Amino acid sequence: MKLAISGKGGVGKTTIAAALIKSFAETHQTVYAVDGDPDACLAATIGIPGEKAANIKPVVEMRDKIRTVSGAGAYYVLNPKLDDTIDDFCHVHGNIRFMRMGDVKKGGSECYCRENTFLSALISSLLLDKDEVVIMDMGAGIEHLSRGTAKGVDLMLVVVEPSLNSVNTARNVMKMALDLGINKVKIIGNKIRSDKEREFIEKSFQPGEVLGFLAFNNTIWESGMEPDSNATGGKLLVGMREVREKIRGEVGGK
Ligand SMILES: Nc1ncnc2c1ncn2[C@@H]1O[C@H](COP(=O)(O)OP(=O)(O)OP(=O)(O)O)[C@@H](O)[C@H]1O
Ligand SMILES: [Mg+2]
Repeated sequence: MKLAISGKGGVGKTTIAAALIKSFAETHQTVYAVDGDPDACLAATIGIPGEKAANIKPVVEMRDKIRTVSGAGAYYVLNPKLDDTIDDFCHVHGNIRFMRMGDVKKGGSECYCRENTFLSALISSLLLDKDEVVIMDMGAGIEHLSRGTAKGVDLMLVVVEPSLNSVNTARNVMKMALDLGINKVKIIGNKIRSDKEREFIEKSFQPGEVLGFLAFNNTIWESGMEPDSNATGGKLLVGMREVREKIRGEVGGK
């Protein structure tokens, strides 16, 4: 099962990704958690303690490790065999193997072609070769996916909150995702406070496009004021179990 999560800034992608990761880790031996957002904070949200979470090196900056896999000379392997080495790039947290992709580097004084090529190979290997659950917090963009790797995503969840802006962004993301060749794209309505808000989201999409809703949760909202918080437990995790089962239904119970 390979899931990608996207949507407008601040709608709750990381919160939902973390809750899903924890939820799948309850029933699966290994869950790969990928932070594809350069402005990363998924590590802390899945419960990796603050200091440790802050010190997890993005894969793109693991230059020495990358060299040992893709070759150290001027030439490097474009599609290294990664299946056995992926775990060397992960931080293990219970059943969760966490990876921070880091920013896709562009231009500048140093060449990052090798690292960028490696990132693509890593995503490709995770999505196309691995049998485990892989959950990617894509941030607001989906540039880590290419036409080749997108077909490995079983389901993209686009998170919306009850606002026109987030609905418009979701429509654009949905279109991009389908153009890239992602199999299935569904909406999750988040931070719902009333029937009116729920209906607004339902009416904004085609019947069947909305997979589920998560209520506004005060504890989660207030946790945003605390420095070292991963308040995705409790009620959200319970709501998430329901969403997890719906996802299983969509993707075929993998
Ligand atoms: N269901 C919810 N109820 C209340 N607050 C929520 C809920 N979901 C998310 N939040 C809060 O909304 C804020 C944004 O959430 P989050 O960081 O998950 O969004 P994001 O889409 O990942 O943002 P970014 O685009 O910055 O990465 C956080 O303070 C989070 O605690
Ligand atoms: Mg986020």
